[in-house]
Amino acid sequence: MSTLKKELLSEITSLNTTVIELRHHLHEHPELSNQEEKTTALLQGILSDAGLKVTTYQNHYGLVAELIVDPAKPFIALRADIDALPIHEQTLINYSSETKGIMHACGHDAHTAIVLGVALAFSKLQQPLPANLRFIFQPAEEVLDAGAQEMIEDGVLENVKAIFALHAYPYLPTGQIGYKYGVMLASADMFEIRIKGKSAHGARPHEGVDAILVTSMVVNSLNHIVSRQIDPLHPAVISLGTIEGGKAANVLCDHVTLKGTVRTVNHEIRKKIPEMMELTIDGICKSMHASFEFEYNFGTPEVLNDNAMVDLIVSEAQELLGSENCIDLQDPVMGGEDFGFYLEKIPGAFIRLGTCSDEKESCYSQHNSRFNVDDNALEYGMKVLAATALKALENV
Ligand code: NI
Repeated sequence: MSTLKKELLSEITSLNTTVIELRHHLHEHPELSNQEEKTTALLQGILSDAGLKVTTYQNHYGLVAELIVDPAKPFIALRADIDALPIHEQTLINYSSETKGIMHACGHDAHTAIVLGVALAFSKLQQPLPANLRFIFQPAEEVLDAGAQEMIEDGVLENVKAIFALHAYPYLPTGQIGYKYGVMLASADMFEIRIKGKSAHGARPHEGVDAILVTSMVVNSLNHIVSRQIDPLHPAVISLGTIEGGKAANVLCDHVTLKGTVRTVNHEIRKKIPEMMELTIDGICKSMHASFEFEYNFGTPEVLNDNAMVDLIVSEAQELLGSENCIDLQDPVMGGEDFGFYLEKIPGAFIRLGTCSDEKESCYSQHNSRFNVDDNALEYGMKVLAATALKALENV
């Protein structure tokens, strides 16, 4: 192990208590997506005091902190998300949310504390780094107007050669990480369909166009797209989440609105799905004399890990945690993550950090009101990310 790496890891060990306390503070003071004003100010203060170059933004919260050895050299980036969720916390911990109805129920408080800890550890090193580091503290991961896009538009990926991030994961115990080659998480798109019929007396259906009947056929047929038009070797989901229409039991309904989400792990299939849906809706509406409007919004792309970057992070994690504690997750999941936007632009990898400890009741799933992160997981997260960043710096 290089002396630089030894020094880095020992700085992390000494910072661990501070980082845990900071995570507790963030957990007590959660802020919703696009409202992360105090979180941003707190991070700005700590990082500027530690001598990092901090950039904040006029049009959104979040910030970037940099350690620059030579502006002509490239950057390696680490990313954390800083927002919380509109969930009323029901944990029994003594640092639970002080803001009613808002909670860090996805572990973004832990991600923020971990990346901050890594930034502080690097800032304390005596020897110069081989290249530059950029720490991205991104707002608004939990909403459709993804904060990642805003940050990218503001240039956070300029001159960045590789990017890494982790996510708290209650399905693995503390002390383990989960990794995945290739696609790790699905793309997440949203759509809205408005079916228009013609109102009539319920007793005289031949005089109108029944938007409810048309809708029922549309719902049925949309559910056949995945099973009959998409290669079964490529997972995809089309789910309808809301349906709204009709006013009275004896009146033919003249309009119905449907909303739903589409998930895929394949870029080509993702591009074709809106057309498949539109063709299906159009055919049914035509045959039933109904009309429709269809709005499809592309959200976050799939999280597509770069295999060489996965190799890099796994070899560092194996050295730190032991190979038996580095788990190949093998299957992607159909959830979304806006880290996919960064990976569309530059190579990088996203990993899962085990945070489950039975004693600490930290095994509830994400977005659950009892969700929490085991404090002991933070040090592992910091060490894996820091060692990976250092290795990537040496490689650029
Ligand atoms: Ni999350």
